[in-house]
Amino acid sequence: MRKSGALLAAVHVGLRDIIKPGISSMEIEKFADNYITSHGGIPGEKGFEGYKYATCVAVNDEVAHATPRQNLILHNGDLVKVDMTVTLDGYQSDSCWSYAVGEVSPKIQKLMDVTKKALYLGIDQAVVGNRLGDIGYAIQHYTEDENGYGDVRDLIGHGIQPTMHEQPNVPHYGEPHKGLRLKEGMTITIEPMINEGTWQIMAKEVSDPNDSWEYYVTADGGWSCQYEHTLAITKDGPKILTSQDPIADAKYL
Ligand code: MF3
Ligand code: CO
Ligand code: CO
Repeated sequence: MRKSGALLAAVHVGLRDIIKPGISSMEIEKFADNYITSHGGIPGEKGFEGYKYATCVAVNDEVAHATPRQNLILHNGDLVKVDMTVTLDGYQSDSCWSYAVGEVSPKIQKLMDVTKKALYLGIDQAVVGNRLGDIGYAIQHYTEDENGYGDVRDLIGHGIQPTMHEQPNVPHYGEPHKGLRLKEGMTITIEPMINEGTWQIMAKEVSDPNDSWEYYVTADGGWSCQYEHTLAITKDGPKILTSQDPIADAKYL
């Protein structure tokens, strides 16, 4: 899973140079699909429940599961979330990252900073003996009580390996000391989706007559941000398997 996660992380590192004003969201898909397959991996989202792409690419008020689109051009100031899974030698990894297109407004930069910190506050609770509610509470308290954002309820983190989605469900909200107790050897994702406004989201159908895929947008049109890591719970603490940054993540490697 570390190797799979390293390949996925390398795709995200590569995307830093690809994502610029003027590209289409389909160019993100092409880069990721090609990078994964040319390094011996399989894009895990392709074929998953009828999904056609290696990546989900959600822009601004789109929350998750959005498809890459040739006619969706990224503009300066947009916020784009790229989520993908990789299978390498039978091992899964799953990571979403948020990217500023050109320069985002200070308001959106703050949403990005808070969402990334929320992910890491959740990871800090992923220690043996804690409970799932400790992870959820840390994220919800920081994003909603301290920052006034909306913390999406309808989509959650999950166990991972041998398939993409395993038990347990990992909600990004909850109460301290409640829920399943975390054990050594569990592999899970934490992937908070944090909205500027309400936490509520709405399903929308893609506008392709040959595709019945549904994705999500915020209910109030506010923008949404997401970061996701795959991690292993070990007796030495949480280990991030999809790290892109050996310096910032040093204590989680
Ligand atoms: N990567 C997503 C997750 O975090 C799953 C996307 S499923 C897809 O769980 F079919 F939309 F790709
Ligand atoms: Co996930
Ligand atoms: Co994901």
